[in-house]
Amino acid sequence: MAETGKTVLSVNNLVVNFKTDNGILQAVRDVSFDLEEGETLCIVGESGSGKSVTSKAIMGILANNAIIAGGNIMYRGENLLEVAEEEFYKIRGHKIGMIFQDPLSSLNPIVKIGKQITEATLINSDKLKLMYNDLISEDMIRYKNTLARRDIAIDTEKKKLELLETQIKTKDYADGAAKSADQAMLKQKKDAFKEFVKKTRAEYDAEAKELKAVLAETQKKAKKQVKEYKAQVTQEHKKKLASLKSELSKAGPEARDSIKKQIEEEKTEYTNKLSITKEEAKKRALTIMKEVGIPDPEKRYNQYPFEFSGGMRQRIVIAIALTASPEILICDEPTTALDVTIQAQILELINRIKEERKLSVIFITHDLGVVANMADRVAVMYAGKIVEYGTAEEIFYDPKHPYTWALLSSIPDVDSKEKLEAIPGTPPNMIYPPKGDAFAARSKYAMNIDFREQPEYYRISDTHYAATWLLDPKAPKVEMPKIVSERIRISLEEDKKHEQAE
Ligand SMILES: Nc1ncnc2c1ncn2[C@@H]1O[C@H](COP(=O)(O)OP(=O)(O)OP(=O)(O)O)[C@@H](O)[C@H]1O
Ligand SMILES: [Mg+2]
Repeated sequence: MAETGKTVLSVNNLVVNFKTDNGILQAVRDVSFDLEEGETLCIVGESGSGKSVTSKAIMGILANNAIIAGGNIMYRGENLLEVAEEEFYKIRGHKIGMIFQDPLSSLNPIVKIGKQITEATLINSDKLKLMYNDLISEDMIRYKNTLARRDIAIDTEKKKLELLETQIKTKDYADGAAKSADQAMLKQKKDAFKEFVKKTRAEYDAEAKELKAVLAETQKKAKKQVKEYKAQVTQEHKKKLASLKSELSKAGPEARDSIKKQIEEEKTEYTNKLSITKEEAKKRALTIMKEVGIPDPEKRYNQYPFEFSGGMRQRIVIAIALTASPEILICDEPTTALDVTIQAQILELINRIKEERKLSVIFITHDLGVVANMADRVAVMYAGKIVEYGTAEEIFYDPKHPYTWALLSSIPDVDSKEKLEAIPGTPPNMIYPPKGDAFAARSKYAMNIDFREQPEYYRISDTHYAATWLLDPKAPKVEMPKIVSERIRISLEEDKKHEQAE
C-alpha cells in the first residue's frame, strides 16, 4: 500500500482521439488517475478499452494519427503533453520505463543481448554531460515549453482555418452570391489569422527571450561548475597518483605488487568519476541480469534473443528498462504472451524489483485475476473511460459497476474448475461511442437512463468511485451476480480461517 501518499504521476481529464479512414475514433475519453509513490496501480479492461493508448500517451509514443484533444499528464510539475521532444527523450526510458506485451518486439533480433543491455547504459555514459544537463534542465524545460505553447496556440488557430477552407471548397453553393460571401469571410479570417500569428509571436517571443537569457546564464554557471568538478577530481587523482608512485619508488619488493594494484584502482576510479566505461557498463549489465533472475549471466551475455525462452526474454526487457534506474515502471500486459507458471514468475519478479527499487508501477492487464496479489489500487476501464476506481480491496470485495462484476465473473477459478462466464456481447465501436453508459448494451442491469445519459462518478468511499446509475438513490436495489458474491464470501471465509490459524 502506498504509505507516503505522494503523487508521482497525475493524469487529468485525458482525451485521445485517432484520425481513421472511417472517422474520428475516441480511444480515451476523459481519463483521470493519480499514481502514488511506491504503489502498484492496475488498469484493467477488455481489449480496446484504451489501456495501451493511455500508457503510450504517458510515454509520449502515440501513433502519428493520434490527436490529444484534452487533459494533461503531470510529472514533477511538468505537463508531459507539452514537454518538448528533447526533454521528453530524457524522461522517457530514464525516469519512466515501459515494458510491453511482446518482449520480442522490444529486442533487436540480431544484436547479442549483453550488448543491448550495455547500450542502454552507455547512452548515458558521459557523466560530466549528465551533470551539466541536470543543472540546466529546469530552465531548459521552461524555455522549451514557452516555445511549445506558442506553436500549439498558432497551430490550433491554423487548423481551424484549414477546416473552414476545406468546408468552403467542398460546399455546393446554390448561387454565386453565397459563394463569394463565404470567400470574403474566409479572406477576412485569413487576415485575422495573420494578425493573430504576429500578436502571439510577439507575446510569447518576449517571454521566450527572457527565459533564454536566464537559460544562457544558467548554462554559463553550469559549465563553470562542471569544469570545476572535473578540475577538482583531476587534481585529487594526480595527487593520489603522485603519492602512490613515490611510495612505489621507496617500497621494498614485497609491497610493490600491492601498490601497483592501488595505482590501477585509482586510475579506474578516476575514469569512473568522469564516465561510464565499457567494462563498467558490462559489469552493471551482469549485475542487472542477475537481479532479474537470468541464470548464468556471463554465458547468456553473448547470446541472441532467439536463444532465450519467452519468460527469459521478458526478464531481459525488464533488465533494459531498469538500467536507467527509472522511478516509474509501466508494464503493459507483460505476461499475456507467457504460460501460467512463467506468468507467475514474472509477476513475482516485478513485485520484487518494485519493493527493492521503490518503484511506482502501472500494471496493465485484461485479467483481474492476474493482479489480485499485486495491485494496491485498481482502475477498471471500459470504452475509453474509467468506470470504477478503488483500492484492490474495494474492487475485489465491494465492486459496484456491472462491468467490474462481469470482469470478476470471468476470472477462471483454478480450484473448482468452474465454468467461466464470458462477458456477453462485444465492446462498442469507438467511432460511434454509445450515448449513455457504454456498457449498457451488454448489461442485464441496464435501465432506461443508461442508454440516454452518462452516469457521473458516485462516491462510495474516499478512495472508491464508480460511474453507474445503479448507485443513484432513485435506482432500484440490485444484487451483484451470484458467482461474484459467492466468491467474495468464500475468500472472506478463507481469510478468516487464515487469521484464526495464525
Ligand atoms: N493508431 C491508431 N489508429 C486508430 N485507432 C487506434 C490506434 N491505436 C489504437 N487505436 C484504437 O484505440 C482503442 C484503444 O486501443 P488500446 O490499444 O488502448 O486498447 P487496449 O485496452 O490496450 O487493448 P488490448 O487489451 O487489446 O491491448 C481501440 O479501439 C484501438 O483500435
Ligand atoms: Mg493494449
